[in-house]
Amino acid sequence: MCGIVGYIGERDAMPILAKGLQRLEYRGYDSAGLAILSNGTLTTHKRAGKVADLLEHINGETIPGTLGIGHTRWATHGAPNDVNAHPHESFSRTISIIHNGIIENYSALKKELSKRGYKFRTETDTEILATLIEDIQKNTGAQLEEAVRLALNEVIGAYAIVVISDAEPDKIIAARKGSPLVIGIGEHEYFVASDASPIVEYTKNVVYMNDEEVATISRVDGLSIKTIRNQVKTPYIEELELNLEEIEKGGFEHFMLKEIYEQPTSIRDSMRGRLNARAGTVSLGGIKDYEKKLLNADRIIMVACGTSWHAAMVGEYLFEDLARVPVEVEYASEFRYRNPVLGENDVVIAISQSGETADTLAAVQLAKSRGATIFGICNVVGSSISRETHAGSFTHAGPEIGVASTKAFTAQLTLLTLMALRIGHKKGTIPESRYQTLLAELDRIPEKVKETLKTDEKVREIAETFSSVRNFLYLGRGYNFPVALEGALKLKEISYIHAEGYPAAEMKHGPIALIDDDMPVVVLATNQSAYDKIINNIHEVKARNARIIAIVSKGDTVISEMADYTIEIPATAEQLSPIVSVIPLQLMAYHMAVLRGCNVDQPRNLAKSVTVE
Ligand code: G6P
Repeated sequence: MCGIVGYIGERDAMPILAKGLQRLEYRGYDSAGLAILSNGTLTTHKRAGKVADLLEHINGETIPGTLGIGHTRWATHGAPNDVNAHPHESFSRTISIIHNGIIENYSALKKELSKRGYKFRTETDTEILATLIEDIQKNTGAQLEEAVRLALNEVIGAYAIVVISDAEPDKIIAARKGSPLVIGIGEHEYFVASDASPIVEYTKNVVYMNDEEVATISRVDGLSIKTIRNQVKTPYIEELELNLEEIEKGGFEHFMLKEIYEQPTSIRDSMRGRLNARAGTVSLGGIKDYEKKLLNADRIIMVACGTSWHAAMVGEYLFEDLARVPVEVEYASEFRYRNPVLGENDVVIAISQSGETADTLAAVQLAKSRGATIFGICNVVGSSISRETHAGSFTHAGPEIGVASTKAFTAQLTLLTLMALRIGHKKGTIPESRYQTLLAELDRIPEKVKETLKTDEKVREIAETFSSVRNFLYLGRGYNFPVALEGALKLKEISYIHAEGYPAAEMKHGPIALIDDDMPVVVLATNQSAYDKIINNIHEVKARNARIIAIVSKGDTVISEMADYTIEIPATAEQLSPIVSVIPLQLMAYHMAVLRGCNVDQPRNLAKSVTVE
């Protein structure tokens, strides 16, 4: 969380920083700020609120200067106000710093610095780091790079930082541990950012920084990298695969809607080169070298957070059903702190859109240290989790900017299905004919998702009816239970309506007490296997006067008769149904949020990439 951007080159830094902050805003949007260094003078502007509020405050003025840093914040230490907004200056205001992460030992450092007479203006951990660097310079006479390096040796916690100093006006220093940072290399110019989105417009050559590395970018000497223990590293330059169009709205009113509509393509892209339904094959190059581990696993543990955790739950059903291997699904944040029992025959699959979620990353590191083999399913190439795992597959969903995850979820499900099918087939746990049928059906899924998107208008009308309710219940069974959870999460996240997802039968052990005519119930009713049971559950809900919105397979007449509102979606195999049945729930959350005047792409208090635990 928090987006950081820096520029050093020959152009005015200010417009590059402003645009960069807008692109990074999905990472946090409590406050924003920038600092420009020109002729040895630092000019800083910062404001609580969105990047637009900052730009309005600056009022179209371009602060001259070809070196600068910018930050968009998701508050951790200190309220989101003007004072706590980044950049932060050191005690004597010579050093300016932006930071993404948490300095865990900040209060010990603060106490120490206070004893030495330093005063602080903000409640942030970041200001402490700025003053620590200043103090080291004062005591040792070190240059900025050296002082940053020494300071980081005293820091416990996570950081991606960019530091500038009016005493060294032709340099920026960047460092990372735990929070992402990428450097863009252009012609006589360099960019530093939390992800490549502010960079792609200017250059495709990038260096992804590794943990505990400090980069010095100088107008005179270019880029050099050292570790915080002073070992010189050779920067590894990679070419970005990202395109500018992928990170723009392309005519849609919101990124979320664009991303919902991209799903037929993003699902297809995630299968491309992997699924060959005609030849009856699934190939997954990224897991090839470690496939034996998956085939022989005693158990698979899936770790994830948020929407990715819901994908993991579908993964559990898929792997147990198709590959006959026991699966446990864990919240990464719980797993990492509960001393889990892990061995060499355990396989961990970490699922993360961003590849940066701090808890998921820590869970991966823990499992790795205990000898487990780790596979990753990530969307962002070069991300920390994807680099920490032994093997894995990227979901090729393209950049997801809307904070509420949509296309990444269906791409994760696609990958999990491909993996489970391949492993099940190799193990002989799926009959050949079933395997072939599922491959052919998976190949048809992008078309079925496209067809499902036609429900948009109907879903919008239903949303109009319910946009003022305060609670919602989502029910599903089997493969559709995780989809019920995901539908409820989407609604909560962006429309701020309280919603709960429940296994349809479990509902009578509690939530049924809440049901009345003011509690609409969404029932996912596409399952063939538990069809009669779902009918019973609908009766139970109806008897308590709830209004029912049923998601049914095309041609269903029985449930359509019982429900107050019906959304028909194309029929598909039960194993694949979550990819299709989640679509109307995404649309429902979207329309509800729009009707309620909520900020769809940047819901309050949330952030896209949660790099703090
Ligand atoms: C945040 C986002 C969610 C996301 C979750 C996990 O809470 O707002 O949309 O599902 O993090 O993120 P990941 O990048 O690991 O999938």
